[in-house]
Amino acid sequence: MAQGIKKQAKSHYVCRACGASFPKWAGQCSECQAWNALEENLTSHAAGTSRFAGYTGETSPQILALAEVESEKEARSPTGSPELDRVLGGGLVEGSVVLIGGDPGIGKSTLLIQTLARLSMKLHTLYVSGEESPRQISLRATRLGLPADKLQLLPETCVERIIAIAERECPHVMVVDSIQTMYTELLQSAPGSVSQVREATAQLVHFAKRSGTAVFLVGHVTKEGSLAGPRVLEHMVDCVLYFEGEAGSQFRLIRTIKNRFGAVNELGVFAMTDKGLKEVSNPSAIFLSRQAETVPGSIILVTREGTRPLLVEVQALVDESPLANPRRVTLGLEQNRLSMLLAVLHRHGGIGMFDQDVYVNVVGGVRITETASDLAVLMAALSSFRDRPLDHGLVVFGEVGLTGEIRPVPNGQERLREAAKHGFKRAIVPKANLPKQSIEGLQVTAVDNLSDVLEIY
Ligand code: TYD
Ligand code: MG
Repeated sequence: MAQGIKKQAKSHYVCRACGASFPKWAGQCSECQAWNALEENLTSHAAGTSRFAGYTGETSPQILALAEVESEKEARSPTGSPELDRVLGGGLVEGSVVLIGGDPGIGKSTLLIQTLARLSMKLHTLYVSGEESPRQISLRATRLGLPADKLQLLPETCVERIIAIAERECPHVMVVDSIQTMYTELLQSAPGSVSQVREATAQLVHFAKRSGTAVFLVGHVTKEGSLAGPRVLEHMVDCVLYFEGEAGSQFRLIRTIKNRFGAVNELGVFAMTDKGLKEVSNPSAIFLSRQAETVPGSIILVTREGTRPLLVEVQALVDESPLANPRRVTLGLEQNRLSMLLAVLHRHGGIGMFDQDVYVNVVGGVRITETASDLAVLMAALSSFRDRPLDHGLVVFGEVGLTGEIRPVPNGQERLREAAKHGFKRAIVPKANLPKQSIEGLQVTAVDNLSDVLEIY
């Protein structure tokens, strides 16, 4: 039993729908009649679980002038994996809490055991698992050939006990796998319920800030795609990383959703092999494995994920539709944007596709979130519609506006250099992205509006 809790904290039940509070749980809220909306909440916090006091544990907070606050640069330790460091914003920050989310079986435990084993060579590390037995973890570590002699394991699911042990051991880095299996003794609800997950996280965050231990939390993702239970978890931690990957593909992408110490949307690329997760340091190369000869509907886009340019293939298929409402399907892109681009193409280019199904796909399971993909989508659709292939050595990027103008996107130079590096010969870019000095081996064509595009293609 943890020593921290002297008295059992009181809990009450709050309706998620109307906010009414009840001393007992019931299936239906007697105020607003909502079913299954009552959620356990703590009435008072036991000592040690206060989430405030400036993370220092002091009971009397003081007002400080910003200039008085010591602001030495946060201490970062490299994790030994450049791709993981990249998504963390340049290494692991002392006392930070990082939430790693993703579907079951995507490789969260594998990544963390690999990282922790590597870190254990120079730092004090602790792997808390509520999912796998120490035997399973050890088997996996041996199979992956990891240096396991210094890595410490703790099979435990009670947060109070975990924190009591961690306080004694003072690890530099601790992994909690997974937050859904953890529970706090303060609440009666089952592990994995919203209130348990929230309270357990709050205690672990508080511990991290107090002790300077960097904590990785593993979180499973619900069917709806949000980090299990509550999005509220994302507000409590410093950094949220999200594992993405297509079923059947060996590539795994880690995306930064939130980072208090660095840029978001940063992308780390890994490949799942029989020897665990391997870094992919040149991701452009893997997403570009296309046929030697170009086919209609395929184009290369230079996108930018976080701080790095990435070459990806965008494919479109335009086909006569038997439906009254032709389909507009996108994979890896936003569907509304496709509808918008087709409207622009019709209104300003006179090319209508309302009797056609349009499918657009980004090859390799990458998800593109920026508008620089507009021009590529538009040209790919056009190419498929006209059944005319585009140049083999061509790359494009650019945003398309509603008036048919082609708008510039950030970091044009860098994108073009990346394309030249991979041997591309031609680029079609927005006028304002035209490089000041020419780039060796790359012929750049600037377009200002849709009619320019239709003229050259
Ligand atoms: P795991 O890290 O256990 O997933 P999570 O913790 O996110 O639920 O990953 C398990 C999957 O990874 C499993 O389907 C098998 C695969 N895998 C490999 O292909 N190679 C390996 O070396 C390892 C350890 C796992
Ligand atoms: Mg796991």
